[in-house]
Amino acid sequence: MIKIAPSILAADFSKLAEEVKDVEKGGADYIHIDVMDGHFVPNITMGPIAVEAVRKVTNLPLDVHLMIENPDQYIKAFVEAGADIITVHVEATHHLHRTLQEIRRLGVKSGVVLNPATPASTIAHVLEEIDMVLLMTVNPGFGGQAFIDAVLPKMREVRRMIEEKGLNIDIEVDGGIHEGTIKACQEAGANVFVAGSAIFNKSDRQAAIHELRSKLIT
Ligand code: DX5
Ligand code: ZN
Repeated sequence: MIKIAPSILAADFSKLAEEVKDVEKGGADYIHIDVMDGHFVPNITMGPIAVEAVRKVTNLPLDVHLMIENPDQYIKAFVEAGADIITVHVEATHHLHRTLQEIRRLGVKSGVVLNPATPASTIAHVLEEIDMVLLMTVNPGFGGQAFIDAVLPKMREVRRMIEEKGLNIDIEVDGGIHEGTIKACQEAGANVFVAGSAIFNKSDRQAAIHELRSKLIT
């Protein structure tokens, strides 16, 4: 139920394979991969070839977070590269229902992402199409930003929406997650925790992951 998903955005890219293996050995549940296009967010990171490279060095599920305009055009490429979960931003998708159906049709888990200012109601009509909701707890684009507390009530609201429909959907949180913020997210209903700097900026990744888990009720 509880998953820790290190975000490789904060890893040392000159030795990406080692970094991924290190967090796998340290007890990570997913590898979170941040795809940015320089349009939807003001930063450019990686594409399908990076996902393919990570796929070769780990058996962990790859949680691919698409911060890109027109995600429909690239979903197939990310599935072929080895993604296990693909999440798309509600703000970047014109036909959200269609996009989510397409992700599942290609055989991977689907998820929808909300920026901090985007209301929970925007996903009320697609809950049947998703396996995960990703709530951004920073404005997407960069690692190492401060957690936005105002997202906590939205976590509770999304958890309530899921429970009312009796669905089995994970709530993932992303941005500013560290030992001081993770517990409040769990209390508000989250169960999948992305952490970039809180894991990769520490030399002992196993200890960092353990430290995060120690704040959670299992
Ligand atoms: C931000 C990305 C995050 C980022 C989190 O746009 O979606 O996944 O890597 O980094 P930290 O944990 O350092 O806030
Ligand atoms: Zn992310």
